[in-house]
Amino acid sequence: MLHSRNGRPTDQRIFLGKVTRADSEKGVTVHVTREVSVETLRQGQFVVIEGRFVKFFGTISGFRLAATDPAIEQDPPDSGSSLVYDTLSRTTTYAECIVRPSLEMITTGAADGSDVGGDNLKPARTIPGHFAQVYKAGSQDFKQVFGAEEKGKYFFIGQPRDMDVPVAINLERVVERSNGIFGRSGTGKSILARLLFCGLIKTNACANLIFDMHSEYAYSKRLESDRMARGLRELFGASKVMVFSLDKEDTTRPGKSVDGWLQIPLDLIEHEDLASLQEELTLSDAQLIAAGQLERRLGKKWMARFLDMDAEELKETNKQLGAHEGAMEALRRRLQRIDQLGFVTREGTVAKNGIGDLVHALEHGRNVVLQFGKFSSLLSYMLVANLITRRIHEKWVELTEKAEQAGQKAPPLMITIEEAHKFLSHGQTIFGTIARELRKYSVTLLIIDQRPSSIDPDVMSQLGTRITALLSDERDIDAVFTGTRGGHFKNILATLDTRQEVLVFGHAVPMEVVLRTREFDEDLYRAVAPAAALNKVERGKQALEDLFGE
Ligand SMILES: Nc1ncnc2c1ncn2[C@@H]1O[C@H](COP(=O)(O)OP(=O)(O)O)[C@@H](O)[C@H]1O
Ligand SMILES: [Mg+2]
Repeated sequence: MLHSRNGRPTDQRIFLGKVTRADSEKGVTVHVTREVSVETLRQGQFVVIEGRFVKFFGTISGFRLAATDPAIEQDPPDSGSSLVYDTLSRTTTYAECIVRPSLEMITTGAADGSDVGGDNLKPARTIPGHFAQVYKAGSQDFKQVFGAEEKGKYFFIGQPRDMDVPVAINLERVVERSNGIFGRSGTGKSILARLLFCGLIKTNACANLIFDMHSEYAYSKRLESDRMARGLRELFGASKVMVFSLDKEDTTRPGKSVDGWLQIPLDLIEHEDLASLQEELTLSDAQLIAAGQLERRLGKKWMARFLDMDAEELKETNKQLGAHEGAMEALRRRLQRIDQLGFVTREGTVAKNGIGDLVHALEHGRNVVLQFGKFSSLLSYMLVANLITRRIHEKWVELTEKAEQAGQKAPPLMITIEEAHKFLSHGQTIFGTIARELRKYSVTLLIIDQRPSSIDPDVMSQLGTRITALLSDERDIDAVFTGTRGGHFKNILATLDTRQEVLVFGHAVPMEVVLRTREFDEDLYRAVAPAAALNKVERGKQALEDLFGE
């Protein structure tokens, strides 16, 4: 943590040193003043460079020790005395830090700070001159760059490591593009996503569909600190957050009500869904092709018909398709795995299976958490997510066409998937299509994943905003920066805390920033859902007041 001279943490700017070299490619070299020990600085720290005409905002990307007299490096002093070190640091030794300027702001020189404002901020297109003064940013600088929460659709998602300043993200911009949350397991991805949903739901920025593999978003979840984090349904109520489940038993859990029970009619499963399940089902290319032939030949109810064929019929079909008997048998066994899933049904019209209700809710701006209950296998998750997303996509294409005729846009929708690399290892899936089509149809993705290197680079490069917690695999770190110019921040990623610390960059923030993720606690509840944050007695009082006035 950075301290002022008297050792207390501070929200004030702290003078760090002066620019001695600058290179538009390699960044700005700052000669660190001897008042500041390099050991109190951190990679990823936010700094301000006061040039003569331009003020720069940037991030520390690295450090270096140096000496004016090379002899000192060859022959360091023997003594451990701090007096000797102090003397040397006054005369011969010093530290440098490398800063990457991200933004520039033309200053009008107004002492009252009237040049404050996001509109004046532009990507840095020049470098500071010699000896420009460099400061560790103060709270005022953070506010200037990251906007205050009061300003419309900004939502406070975290604080800088060593300060108590809320840093906000622009939710309108979050909704405009697909986004990603990355990080190793246990780094706080799900909590951060939950936080983001709180902001999106509170401001009605978009409707959310959350494919909730581990049933963790709707209701309270125990944190590792043993505290409970409240769920979205508890905070926002049924009018805003609907819960659907694939597991009939979910509907009978006390205190965890479910609004709809979803079934997947076998007839709705198409060849395209199988293609995205190829790996999960261990389908060979030949089997997949055979499935396609079957679908074309037998029509809509192909799967049920194929599964129910007796030996005679099967033989006949094989002959007609010119298919290999063994391959067809193997295909059948694999399709049986789908048929046997507890939520897959042979009957059930679309009206009764819940899918229609789910889509209807989203269309009307409500948020939907889809729980999998005991069907939390990857096969179930991928099958359902694919199938439902395909229907939603069709629906939103239709809604967009209608809306456009009236000069409007379809209601914005964000679809959240976890273990995203399982869906997006190649771009030929419905999710790849959505990521590429961007906002054309007002549908975007929120991708939560711990292995970004397994996601199709084409899809990665479409992501607008990336929020990344600690990653340790070199390939994953590289992948997070696909299609951006932020590669020089790579080293920051590996130095983040093992939890609750993230690097945020992209469309929804003016520049990259390292944050301690906002605590998921009572303060948050009060901010996003005041009514739900009250305890029982307070709720009772509120209800009486609503009835009878104060
Ligand atoms: N913003 C936060 N507020 C409170 N606790 C957090 C926060 N972020 C992470 N944690 C802690 O980290 C643990 C793991 O978070 P989780 O979101 O489940 O990780 P992941 O989804 O990346 O595996 C949580 O149980 C909680 O104890
Ligand atoms: Mg998680």
